[in-house]
Amino acid sequence: MNAGFIQTHPKFGRIKENVEDAAKKIRALDADLVVLPELFSTGYQFRSKEEARKLSEGVDGYAAGRLSEAAKEKNIHIVAGFAEKAGKRAYNSSMLIGPRGVIGVYRKAHLFWDEKKIFSRGDTDFKVYKAGGVKVGMMICFDWIFPEVSRTLALQGAQIICQPSNLVLPYCPQAMITRSLENRVFSITANRVGSEERVRGKRLRFIGTSQIVAPDGSVLYRAAGDGVEAAAMEINPEEALNKDITPVNNLFKDRRRDLFVL
Ligand code: ACM
Repeated sequence: MNAGFIQTHPKFGRIKENVEDAAKKIRALDADLVVLPELFSTGYQFRSKEEARKLSEGVDGYAAGRLSEAAKEKNIHIVAGFAEKAGKRAYNSSMLIGPRGVIGVYRKAHLFWDEKKIFSRGDTDFKVYKAGGVKVGMMICFDWIFPEVSRTLALQGAQIICQPSNLVLPYCPQAMITRSLENRVFSITANRVGSEERVRGKRLRFIGTSQIVAPDGSVLYRAAGDGVEAAAMEINPEEALNKDITPVNNLFKDRRRDLFVL
């Protein structure tokens, strides 16, 4: 299969423009699975809970609708980060969309910095979904620093971890090599570029460098840090099913859970 990402430069608050731009790029990319950045439809730096609530939408919203159309048209799967409205709350969420519409939603468990003032903490489990015969899991950006997240997804059979991101710290792309290697899974990190300073004195610069990593830790593709781009690589998801390190070492079976502190 071909799996990849779109590295975008969203315009804050302009949902229709951001969604149309992403949908156009999805249509132009030869991929069976495409990952979009965190909050791809709204932009990142909300000034208040009220603003987030106003710009958030449900899985019946504009973003989900237009991406579902693209997924149906191309018979593909899409993972996209969005601001999710749920009653009076807004979550920093990610949705998996297939040819028949939205399959699942993950709400970011580990909120980063000022996100804690804006979004409700995620309350969904780390679930694995079937996407065209392949098991995929979702995590969002800062979740990377908690290795339990990718491990939990891998233990449930995830072959590809999809990570919509708005990275500002420099460490994640290197760390995701380890997350892939220590779980023997593919990972796709879709980041954005550009900067936002909607809160005075708090300029955020997003680092791009979206990437696709193989279960052996090799970086199959890494984007530049400063430009919009889309990329997909041919991968064999079956590689992620083999957890043997040597003939007598198995990544999951050898874990000394009797010695671990959780
Ligand atoms: C982040 O979690 N957006 C850094």
